[in-house]
Amino acid sequence: MMGCLPFFSVETWILLLTFICFFVIYSNRPYGIFEKLGIPGPKPYIYWGTVGRHHKVYYEDDVQSAKKYGKVWGTYEFRTPVLAVTDPEMLKTILVKECFTYFTNRRNFHLNGELYDAVSIAEDDEWRRIRNILTPSFTSGRIKEMFSVMKNISGKLTASMRSKAHNNEVIAVKDIFGPYSIDVMASCAFSLDVDSINNPSSPIIDHASKLFRFPVPVLILQGFFPILLPLFERLGVTMFSKTSTDFFKNVLEKIREERSGSSNPGDVLQNMINSQTKGNDSYSHKPNHKRLTDHEILSQAIMFMFAGYETSTTTLVFLAYNLATNPEVMKRLQEEIDSTFPDKGAVRYEALMQMEYLDCVVNESLRLYPPAARLDRIAKETVKICGITIQKDMVVMIPVYALQRDPELWPEPEEFRPDRFSKQNKQSIKPYAYMPFGVGPRNCLGMRFAQVMVKLALVDILQNYSFSVCEETEIPLEMDYKGFVGPLNPIKLKLETR
Ligand SMILES: *[C@@H]1O[C@H](CO)[C@@H](O)[C@H](O)[C@H]1NC(C)=O
Ligand SMILES: *[C@@H]1O[C@H](CO)[C@@H](O)[C@H](O)[C@H]1NC(C)=O
Ligand SMILES: *[C@@H]1O[C@H](CO)[C@@H](O)[C@H](O)[C@H]1NC(C)=O
Ligand SMILES: *[C@@H]1O[C@H](CO)[C@@H](O)[C@H](O)[C@H]1NC(C)=O
Repeated sequence: MMGCLPFFSVETWILLLTFICFFVIYSNRPYGIFEKLGIPGPKPYIYWGTVGRHHKVYYEDDVQSAKKYGKVWGTYEFRTPVLAVTDPEMLKTILVKECFTYFTNRRNFHLNGELYDAVSIAEDDEWRRIRNILTPSFTSGRIKEMFSVMKNISGKLTASMRSKAHNNEVIAVKDIFGPYSIDVMASCAFSLDVDSINNPSSPIIDHASKLFRFPVPVLILQGFFPILLPLFERLGVTMFSKTSTDFFKNVLEKIREERSGSSNPGDVLQNMINSQTKGNDSYSHKPNHKRLTDHEILSQAIMFMFAGYETSTTTLVFLAYNLATNPEVMKRLQEEIDSTFPDKGAVRYEALMQMEYLDCVVNESLRLYPPAARLDRIAKETVKICGITIQKDMVVMIPVYALQRDPELWPEPEEFRPDRFSKQNKQSIKPYAYMPFGVGPRNCLGMRFAQVMVKLALVDILQNYSFSVCEETEIPLEMDYKGFVGPLNPIKLKLETR
């Protein structure tokens, strides 16, 4: 017998068998926890868990699971037990009532590289301190101050569309909205004039879109062997692209150097820097309750770019798609635009924010396509909520995409119907059925900012142009299975001059 296996010594065999034993024993450990708790859900495969059981697109998978298992179910993301919840009473408790006590933190993959202290990743007191300092940068007063900057960029956007409409070009809508988002974010965050609308090859777009493209092998490896996370971390493995993070770090450091003293633009970066001098009672590299360290400022600024770019862009892309495929909605919206700003007049902030139908259209588009398909929280302690025990350290996941397409909450959920949000119908929307920006103290900080920049671009464009479907338009859309909610292939439409 041993003669057939000449290459392996006894020691090698022992090692190999030990490894196989470890592999098998380790594999089964996390599974069965939901069965014990009496929570339904798909049966896991070892190591792989229940990933992609019903559909390869993870958020479509959530829709199928919700149909099958109801409002609470258990899944295993590779080896990690994840409790999915769409029950409104539980959502209220998790996201709002017990946010500060049991559910303060998001799931942390620990491979955050430089961004470990970004507000979306920071935990507990750290998070609360950073969030409190950032909040004033996103009040409606501050956003109103940024409006003229946004308008300038939106003006460039519409100007760049003129020739495209004139030549009857087929456009990949992301190619126009991506540069718009980048330019708005860079201007409002750092007063940086990128003008990527007119210089589409600018490296900043490339880096901004790269950051959230998590490397799949790392995702799978950390999923299979979460106990190796500290090792990966020490080896410098990160989910966020290091070249892209470094790119923004250099840009920002240069801006800060140039901005010594005299100039004081009202951008997000300056608001953070100003908070440093306000809380001036010890060294600036030491955190205190009133201010951010230099590193923290850097992380917030980078996170703002990255979190804002992709989400605002896809929101605009889906709006264009929904309007092109629902021309009667677009017509009604254009009527509202024309009566609010007669004779293609300049868009004003207050009037824009008061447009009712526009708000319904944007909300309905975000209902069907919320950029973040899932939210999550970690339970700090074992806690019983609405009769369901949630164990310490368990991931609670809110499948927003599935929630917002739940046929019990949204009749004919696949239909694009802005009137769901009209004054008359709004009352029938159940609380906690709609959360494209999350809810509670840990909701999206940039919500109002995003709403303004999205509405402005949409109104400016629809004043002079209409979107229309063409042969190249994919209907229905095939969805992307990586990252944020998005189309697998670029959405292509045509522009018509009004
Ligand atoms: C935007 O602002 C720049 C100066 O900051 C100006 O030259 C340009 O004409 C403006 N563009 C639009 C479309 O308002
Ligand atoms: C802190 O305040 C002192 C005076 O009280 C001032 O000299 C110093 O420049 C301030 N430091 C910072 C970082 O603003
Ligand atoms: C649209 O959604 C936002 C938040 O997502 C909300 O504040 C607003 O009231 C909604 N508008 C309507 C008309 O429902
Ligand atoms: C829309 O068209 C009118 C003339 O038809 C023009 O004056 C205006 O600048 C255009 N607006 C935009 C945002 O392109």
